[in-house]
Amino acid sequence: MNTLKIITVIGARPQFIKAAPVSRELRKKHTELIIHTGQHYDPNMSDIFFEELHIPKPDFHLEVGSGNHGKQTGEMLAKIEEILVAEKPDYLLVYGDTNSTLAGALAAAKLHIPVIHIEAGLRSFNKKMPEEINRIMTDHVSEYLFCPTETAIENLHNENIRHNVINVGDVMYDAVVYNKKIAMDKSTILSTHNLKDKGYHLITIHRAENTDDREKIGNILAAFERIEEVKVWPIHPRTKNKLKEYGFKLDEIPNLVVIDPVGYLDMLTLESHAKKIITDSGGVQKEAYFMEVPCVTVREQTEWVETLAEDANILVGTDVEKIINAVYKEVSPSYTPLFGDGNSAEKIVDSLEK
Ligand code: UD1
Ligand code: UDP
Repeated sequence: MNTLKIITVIGARPQFIKAAPVSRELRKKHTELIIHTGQHYDPNMSDIFFEELHIPKPDFHLEVGSGNHGKQTGEMLAKIEEILVAEKPDYLLVYGDTNSTLAGALAAAKLHIPVIHIEAGLRSFNKKMPEEINRIMTDHVSEYLFCPTETAIENLHNENIRHNVINVGDVMYDAVVYNKKIAMDKSTILSTHNLKDKGYHLITIHRAENTDDREKIGNILAAFERIEEVKVWPIHPRTKNKLKEYGFKLDEIPNLVVIDPVGYLDMLTLESHAKKIITDSGGVQKEAYFMEVPCVTVREQTEWVETLAEDANILVGTDVEKIINAVYKEVSPSYTPLFGDGNSAEKIVDSLEK
């Protein structure tokens, strides 16, 4: 078997987490170079994940930073192209659905470098989400499409993408299996904030469709105001900035503990001890399911439809009463394992070698 030269493009928080298990597996036999686009750059949105998850230091840092979609994606595209022309990799590897994903995939496809897409085939069927555009475009220019679920495979089949489409399970599940015990041993986040097992709800909100709509984010806060229990909210910088812009004050919400974004080990600890998780994150919905913690998703659609079985995850949109009812609803789902066996990275590398 030939040694492969792969360039991985990552740039946003969930991509660092997804890359950790795959990078570890790839580097056993192959050469990987990492491009960090710089889409996320605060130390607690980027560096902390490289340190905690032992992700190799990026070989290239594009330092693109924040910006409107066109400018951000365009700058990444131009810089990635230069590197690909110079490095001539066998494959270009991207994860998920961010602007970094699309930039990497487009740059490579135009240079006829085969694109590997991990977490392919997800759809919300809502083209107002920037992520939906990024996923569709990336899937349609990819050569190898590694899907986390059967639903993702079906979605691709429905768009006539059938070649090299493989269900390998979810690399985020690999990351949880690998890191859960490490997190429990190392994290002190519960004692730092005086939190008790199952004594609080965990909140994460960052979707543009919620944060960039004054009424929607206002409704979400109104619901939090009426949930009496302790609520812990590691706040995403997008959300923090938007709340400031709208003049919404969080200190009027009772029992709300607002903290900066946390590292992955603290996050796994917060998730696993939470009574409920209230989120609009894709990754956090799944982790709630992996940890068997009931989830309330503050969105109108989810790509992770499997998690909705038996109300393990309840989709509520931004209706105040729906959010409150779902948080107080007693559920006891069976949490069927649907996201692989924790060895997705190995399956991906095996498939590429074949
Ligand atoms: C991006 C992805 C989204 C993913 C999320 C993960 C796109 C279109 N969106 O959304 O799919 O779910 O990452 O968290 O790619 N900011 C900082 N510091 C940082 C990063 C961001 O202050 O380190 C602030 C900036 O004001 C920036 C805003 O957050 O404008 C949004 O960042 P951006 O990367 O554009 O989008 P996310 O909402 O993070
Ligand atoms: N996460 C984290 N710290 C936080 C919030 C989230 O480590 O303060 C992790 C979370 O455990 C999951 C991933 O970030 O693995 C999800 O990323 P995010 O919610 O930013 O994006 P999405 O999955 O919605 O694209």
